[in-house]
Amino acid sequence: MAGNQVSIHGQWSSRWVFILAATGSAVGLGNIWRFPYVTGENGGGAFVLVYLACVLTVGLPIMMAEILIGRRGRQSPINSMKDLASAEGKDSSWQAVGWLGVAAGFLILSFYSVVAGWSVAYVFQVGAGSFNEVTAESSSQYFDALTGSANRLTLWHSIFMLMVIAVVARGVQGGLEKAVKWLMPALFVLLVVMVGYAATTGDFAGAFKYLFEPDFSKINGDTILAALGQAFFSLSLGMGSIIVYGAYLSKNASIPQTALIIGGVDTLVALLAGLAIFPIVFAYGLEPGSGAGLVFVSLTIAFGQMPGGQLFGSLFFMLLTVAAWTSAISLLEPVTAWLVESQKWNRIKAAFVAGFGAWLVGMGSVLSFNLWQDLKVSGKNFFDWSEFLSTTIMLPLGGLCIALFAGWAMSKSSTAEELESSAIVIGAWRILVRYVAPLGVVAIFLNAIGVIQ
Ligand code: TRP
Repeated sequence: MAGNQVSIHGQWSSRWVFILAATGSAVGLGNIWRFPYVTGENGGGAFVLVYLACVLTVGLPIMMAEILIGRRGRQSPINSMKDLASAEGKDSSWQAVGWLGVAAGFLILSFYSVVAGWSVAYVFQVGAGSFNEVTAESSSQYFDALTGSANRLTLWHSIFMLMVIAVVARGVQGGLEKAVKWLMPALFVLLVVMVGYAATTGDFAGAFKYLFEPDFSKINGDTILAALGQAFFSLSLGMGSIIVYGAYLSKNASIPQTALIIGGVDTLVALLAGLAIFPIVFAYGLEPGSGAGLVFVSLTIAFGQMPGGQLFGSLFFMLLTVAAWTSAISLLEPVTAWLVESQKWNRIKAAFVAGFGAWLVGMGSVLSFNLWQDLKVSGKNFFDWSEFLSTTIMLPLGGLCIALFAGWAMSKSSTAEELESSAIVIGAWRILVRYVAPLGVVAIFLNAIGVIQ
């Protein structure tokens, strides 16, 4: 049964379209918004090093596992895991991993849409010239005024979520793959332009040192856990995005090679974002650890000062919005596919109902910047909790289960058949996915809660 049929949702028109879609999923707010500010909160270079180690030893093997599970199961993560488990003679409760993913996806999409909404707002504000001649102080004030207004945030959050629903409702293959083909390279070019600008006008040497000179005294259990969570978040792993995209991938694509390209581009974009942002942060005396507003406050200062900044700035946030958009659809797709398969809903209804659910949860994040600002549990507001629980806890947990499934529940012959690689690649992958990735995740958890040092 498993192995060669085509998914009922359709199939990517080529391997390159899959790579594009999966890269579109991976490259998003996680690279340009989250990576720099989490790096800032965790002290810079040493964090970056731990992050890269997590991508190589845990991220890439799990990405390969997700693609192969999806391509063999040809359905939503929940049903793929259920069918593959039964094909291997294993318990059907493996599908619970799919459910954990759906829950994580809801939570991530909920706050992701709020932050993407800031980016949409900035397209218009920067374009209207609000940031011309801006200073470090007025840029922060502007950001605080936006997040302080529940009405404005609700508007942008709603607009972004509707954009996501509209694409998923139509099926991903329709218009999006065409748009992404042009827009992802454009984002890349603009990012390089920004790095160039930051290198010539900002404190580039300081930023370079900050990002690449590790200070190991800054590393502790929490830092490592944060790096692991960031690796999962940035590579779109642990919740089923890549499984569901793999379900639409044709049989003749090489999984290891594909995963390497996606992981490589994703990492490059994150590092470029750091090199665009930190020179400005240091040159203008901003605080690298100042949190979620970092990109919005720092880059707008550069746009306010540079010639043509009004145009470039608006363009930049447009592309950031597109990057977030192509990621957000991959958060909504797994649950939508499941509703179509198992509840027999049509795609439009499925996308709307699921998207509305995530929108509703997202309202909690909208309000945590203003009306519910003081509503904190253990120092974290609703937004902080959504981000922490989904990214730092649920994604690594989901990834752990996916690694165990691919490494232990699935037989060597069926994974090897799907990977179709040399014995060395398959052998190395098996070691990583059976031992290194699971033990790594468990050790990092135990270390963070203080059980092992
Ligand atoms: N990787 C995306 C980003 O960096 C976000 C994302 C899309 C994601 N799908 C995911 C994160 C699945 C975790 C799991 O912006």
